[in-house]
Amino acid sequence: MSLRDLITTQIETAGPISVAEYMGLCLLHPQHGYYTTATPFGVKGDFVTAPDISQMFGELIGLCLAQAWLDQGAPARFTLAELGPGRGTLIADMLRATRGVPGFAQADVVLVEASAALRAVQRDALGDRAQWVDTVSDLPEQPLFLVANEFFDALPVRQFVRDGTRWRERQVGLVDGKLAFGLAPPAPQPALAHRLEDTSDGDLVEDCPAAAPVLSGVADRIATHGGAALIIDYGDWRSLGDTVQAVREHAATDPLADPGKADLTAHVDFEVIARAAAPCKYSKITPQGAFLERLGITQRAQALAGKLSGPALDNHVSAHRRLTHPSEMGNLFKVMGLVPQGCPLPPGLE
Ligand SMILES: C[S@@+](CC[C@H](N)C(=O)[O-])C[C@H]1O[C@@H](n2cnc3c(N)ncnc32)[C@H](O)[C@@H]1O
Repeated sequence: MSLRDLITTQIETAGPISVAEYMGLCLLHPQHGYYTTATPFGVKGDFVTAPDISQMFGELIGLCLAQAWLDQGAPARFTLAELGPGRGTLIADMLRATRGVPGFAQADVVLVEASAALRAVQRDALGDRAQWVDTVSDLPEQPLFLVANEFFDALPVRQFVRDGTRWRERQVGLVDGKLAFGLAPPAPQPALAHRLEDTSDGDLVEDCPAAAPVLSGVADRIATHGGAALIIDYGDWRSLGDTVQAVREHAATDPLADPGKADLTAHVDFEVIARAAAPCKYSKITPQGAFLERLGITQRAQALAGKLSGPALDNHVSAHRRLTHPSEMGNLFKVMGLVPQGCPLPPGLE
């Protein structure tokens, strides 16, 4: 039975499901989920992420976290963690770039990954250098230096359309036997009380119920034991409108067209991240392009360019542009950093 058939049967039996439930099934259903069945990344997959574009991304992230570790007195025992490592390219580049930082290479490398298929891919990339956990609550109780790149955008969102002072939840149901969006009856949503101030009737807002608990787990570790986190994702401060998108073979597609066969994401609302980061000091959200420039991506790009020629050089120049230019990933993607109160923010952030 396909995932479409399973979802259709579930809706016929128990009624429409929330957009979050639909996304959760599409991404992480144990047999048919996008992340559980596929290895969707890279040029041959459905989409590329920043570490796929250039090694420079992971190198600079690694050095940024290594500097934060030095700034906090270089604790001997600490965790270097990534949330949702995909193919493991980012953490592998981080480890390679920081090999020369004495003591940093002794990190306990811990990856938080829900997909068994992707854990196997990550194991191939990292060998026995890493260990895996299911959730942030399983991370060791010690200083934590963590990166999450395009992790929070993969967490399911609920969608609500404003109706007076109440909200109608957007749901996935059936019309003529086909999956279709609809709206539940209006109901109060106390968690959206703050959105009554910046929305009008008919506006759609999103709520990512899983984001705050994950971020709180990270922030609690960092506030208690020391450390730093870099959250990198596309999104902004407060989302407005439908940002759920499906991507298959590098092209946008209808989110209901092929359950489990396309990547489904939603923009990250950094206000939610900042609220959950409360026990820590957090940075302003900084565009990825500005962040990478401050960390020295142009100097690194020039150094690497000296060894390249022909198509390899052209690819390298376009990778630099893609990561940093405002019309590419430079503005759409944002970075937020977390450290314990009283500690300096990681380099590149303010
Ligand atoms: C878009 S990929 C991120 C890719 C990677 N960070 C990179 O920079 O290339 C999302 C990752 O998060 C994982 N993931 C999604 N939901 C998760 C969850 N609830 N818990 C743990 N991992 C999750 C996916 O399996 C996948 O590895």
